[in-house]
Amino acid sequence: MKKTRVLTGITTTGTPHLGNYVGAIRPAIAASRDADVESFYFLADYHALIKCDDPARIQQSTLEIAASWLACGLDPEKVYFYRQSDIPEIPELTWLLTCVTAKGLLNRAHAYKASTDVNRDKGEDPDAGVTAGLYMYPVLMAADILIFNANQVPVGRDQIQHIEMARDIGQRFNHIYGGEYFALPEALIEDNVATLPGLDGRKMSKSYNNTIPLWLPEKELRKAILGIVTNSQAPGEPKNPDESHIFSIYQAFASAEETAAMRRAYAEGIGWGDAKQKVFERINAELAPMREKYDALLAKPDVIENALHAGAKKARALAQPFVARLREAVGLRDLRKVPRVAKAETETRTKAALQPVVFRDEDKAFAFKVLDAKKNVLATQGGFADPKTAMAAAQSAMSALGEA
Ligand code: TRP
Repeated sequence: MKKTRVLTGITTTGTPHLGNYVGAIRPAIAASRDADVESFYFLADYHALIKCDDPARIQQSTLEIAASWLACGLDPEKVYFYRQSDIPEIPELTWLLTCVTAKGLLNRAHAYKASTDVNRDKGEDPDAGVTAGLYMYPVLMAADILIFNANQVPVGRDQIQHIEMARDIGQRFNHIYGGEYFALPEALIEDNVATLPGLDGRKMSKSYNNTIPLWLPEKELRKAILGIVTNSQAPGEPKNPDESHIFSIYQAFASAEETAAMRRAYAEGIGWGDAKQKVFERINAELAPMREKYDALLAKPDVIENALHAGAKKARALAQPFVARLREAVGLRDLRKVPRVAKAETETRTKAALQPVVFRDEDKAFAFKVLDAKKNVLATQGGFADPKTAMAAAQSAMSALGEA
């Protein structure tokens, strides 16, 4: 049986924090031990360039994130663990995909739309300060996923649209070049993965500036945990664990029995200081052995660099022949070979069966899709005021496809 391929990218712009550990690193490493999956983990450093133009920070973050995953037990022998920029086939595929991606699809990407909305609200040019990198982000991400024919991509809700776009783009390439080149990926939404509250009680996130770095030395970790906000209930007063951030954090690290015991301690009025001390001890017990490995790895960047090179070699063994096949498919070919003419034939076969569908998109505007006989989406666009204009646009997209 063919193993399911699961792929995850980590953008290398920040320093790993406890929320990343609980929400991403720990569950991903646990999942990678499943014998029925083939796991791909990569450092998305090309993506990092979109958000960050500080070279030292990109380098440092790449080092810290790679060291973190290794220290937390990722086995690079068992998984594909690589750095995006070590795989030149990824930007190469990005271009092939760019040429089949509808510009309208990218116009509707949330990240891009959010930037243009902010600009519009300020009365500025909608594209002010928006790089083509931000605009193209979904195509690069599609290439990351499609190059290894990943079946599942574990992501947070904010990334679902990107996975859908990867499907759309892959499907469109398959259709245009008449083959099942790409497997179509699915988003794996991890709703039951713990999200950790941060210092102020909101979700721990770099954008809220409320994080606790994963590898703080023991003393500083304790200090950070003691600094988490609580209410003013005094020691001895019974406390509600379900309204306590300290409790949620404890729960993310503790076993079921430990958690039940902590519940009782809350009912019995444990003081916040004691509760925080217990949280610190529990977290530290889990992190201390890994922290030692992490510190050792940071002191030996060549070990990390070698692991990443080995990972890239393994990954390129898949990517290189695949991209060679895709080049062949699009016509970037050896000139000595006899040209193939199959494309015109497949096109006349599929063209007859095009079908327009009008629907309401998330913004409550009208949108259309053009489907082929196999229900592949060949074109789609939204933002129409009424179904009639959407249908008219669908018709003209169909005739454009027909003439292509
Ligand atoms: N965009 C993802 C994020 O910001 C990172 C990422 C890049 C990624 N390429 C990917 C995730 C491919 C999954 C698959 O979190």
